[in-house]
Amino acid sequence: MKREKWTGKMGFILVSVGSAIGLGNIWLFSWRIGEYGGAAFLIPYLIFVFGIASVGLMEEWAFGRSQVKGAIGAFEKVFEEKKKGTGKIGAALGFIPVAAVFSIFIFYAIVIGWLLKYFVLSFTGAFNVINIPEYFGTFTGTANTIGWHAAAVIGTMVIVFFGVQRGIEKANKIMMPILFVILLILVIRSVTLTGAMDGIKYIFVPEWSKLAEVKTWIMALGQAFFTLSLGGATMLVYGSYARDDTDIPSASIQAVLFNFMASMLAALAIIPAVFAFGLDPAAGPGLLFVSIPTVFAKMPGGYIFGILFFLSVVFAGFSSSVSMLEPAVEGFMDKTGFSRGKTVLLLSIVAFLVGLPLDIDMAKFGTWADITTIYVLPFGALVSAVVFFWVFGADKARAEINKNSNIRFGKWFEPYGKYIFVFVAFIVVILNIAYGG
Ligand code: PFF
Ligand code: NA
Repeated sequence: MKREKWTGKMGFILVSVGSAIGLGNIWLFSWRIGEYGGAAFLIPYLIFVFGIASVGLMEEWAFGRSQVKGAIGAFEKVFEEKKKGTGKIGAALGFIPVAAVFSIFIFYAIVIGWLLKYFVLSFTGAFNVINIPEYFGTFTGTANTIGWHAAAVIGTMVIVFFGVQRGIEKANKIMMPILFVILLILVIRSVTLTGAMDGIKYIFVPEWSKLAEVKTWIMALGQAFFTLSLGGATMLVYGSYARDDTDIPSASIQAVLFNFMASMLAALAIIPAVFAFGLDPAAGPGLLFVSIPTVFAKMPGGYIFGILFFLSVVFAGFSSSVSMLEPAVEGFMDKTGFSRGKTVLLLSIVAFLVGLPLDIDMAKFGTWADITTIYVLPFGALVSAVVFFWVFGADKARAEINKNSNIRFGKWFEPYGKYIFVFVAFIVVILNIAYGG
């Protein structure tokens, strides 16, 4: 069967931006920017995103495009070409990043399930009725989440089922523009609330002393990798569907900018509103499922804004979850020759069943989420960087990234990728182990 491609450069950037923009932008970034020095946090964040993570993005895309395969097949080819008979080792290594994002998909679908539930709650006007802080605790960790979890898996499954162009690209073409429009509307609402100023200060007033703390830099570095979906499978498989005339360096600049814009918009949509109502700009689930619904219960027009908000987060979630399922689907199809339909069905059932115990046990859920995002995903990013820059070779890596690009990286890029990027990717793994994210 002929391999599918994105319709063009636009589609490629859009799906990649869709993968990049997710819960990381919404529930991690807005909290971290406040917690780690406001505008001062942007310094390490932007250094790491532009100087380091963007190289990882180009590496994964170019790796996939050069081999026209996802991680398993690409690593296998590169190993086999280097030394006959070692292909199996490559395939085994390629399995790591694919398993990493698939494991993330397993719990991410559960979170999308919660979001779907909250989207429906916003519709029924329930935020004015239920006890919001109590509700989240009584809903999550119970069998009541299972149906919503199933809906999230099915939604992802349907998109991936329709394939690269008619599924993933089409869905992103619908969801991403709506996501940005909604975020803009929410920002306007949020910053015009009385008392919004404290939230704006929380985001923008730089607390320079935070730059002296190691933790600030660690958080910025981890955020830079996660936010661009670096892990050696997602961007790699998306790159494998890119046409040869795609300008990878310029696409990377655009994807990074859109992703950053989404993070800033999300922060401005959330934090000022949370402050305006004297709530806690907590991290993670507490922000999305407690502080924010409380805001919408109190805000003028909160009914409509609540619906819009949860719709936009659901879109951010699905555009990422499809990018977590696709690498496993591509790998499985490539290895077994199964049809896309059968593969998607099989892997979705597996993801759902493995996720079931996490539905009803929040401690297990937390452990799973931590292990996959903090330890396994960064390891996948490191493995792919080593295979690309060292096994495939830094000279060929540079040529592939430069291919058909207006931006041409000079010879310096080779040691930069081979030593500096690989070293930093290694440091990310070590720091995450040491600091637990
Ligand atoms: N970039 C996504 C976010 O910020 O939420 C998360 C993500 C998606 C990570 C896909 C890894 C991945 F492969
Ligand atoms: Na997304």
